Amino acid sequence: MTELGPVAWPPAPIRTERLVLREPEARDRAAVIELLASPEVGTYLGGPRPRDELEREMPEAPSRRPGLFIVDLDGAMIGHITLTRETGHLRQAAGKAELGYLFLPEAWGRGFAAEACAAALDWFAGALPGEPVVLATQTANVRSMRLAAKLGFIEVERFEAYGAEQWFGVWSSVTPSD
Ligand SMILES: CC(C)(COP(=O)(O)OP(=O)(O)OC[C@H]1O[C@@H](n2cnc3c(N)ncnc32)[C@H](O)[C@@H]1OP(=O)(O)O)[C@@H](O)C(=O)NCCC(=O)NCCS
Repeated sequence: MTELGPVAWPPAPIRTERLVLREPEARDRAAVIELLASPEVGTYLGGPRPRDELEREMPEAPSRRPGLFIVDLDGAMIGHITLTRETGHLRQAAGKAELGYLFLPEAWGRGFAAEACAAALDWFAGALPGEPVVLATQTANVRSMRLAAKLGFIEVERFEAYGAEQWFGVWSSVTPSD
């Protein structure tokens, strides 16, 4: 992973109708571990990480980096969103800004991921105007597929990787008529 680009970081916390997008803080540690150790969250992401390993390795305050937003509902973390510039994991994503989203299962089905991701993409469009964002997800990950479509990602291709069919899409803040 390389630097996202020449962005001013961190931005002021981003407020949506119900949520706040902000940098990680020490009080998020337990929820970050919960997220990464959750079998439900890890279903289409290569499985959960062992909880004891996370407890051992996670710093006291989860690491901060440009493009990583904690999604906060009423003062508690419910998920995180990443906008990263990928170097390795998929040929299709190399060098491009890529969106990732992970939410705690109790926060699914309430539109929080869509609300938070739309705000993160909006921030990105202001920070790096005109630059597209890519997204890769397993086609079997129905919730993620629905979310990608709702956010306006357009399918570029489908391919096999990591033993499953992957969907690769692109989003742009610039519409053809702009
Ligand atoms: C992918 C993921 C973020 C999607 O979460 P989600 O809650 O389904 O996504 P949304 O925020 O778009 O919410 C949509 C649901 O909220 C419902 N909803 C309820 N209130 C709503 C509101 N006020 N506004 C919008 N939608 C609302 C919608 O009807 C929809 O319900 P449905 O799932 O029954 O159709 C979540 O499943 C997840 O974290 N998965 C594990 C991690 C993962 O696989 N990430 C993909 C990596 S690329």
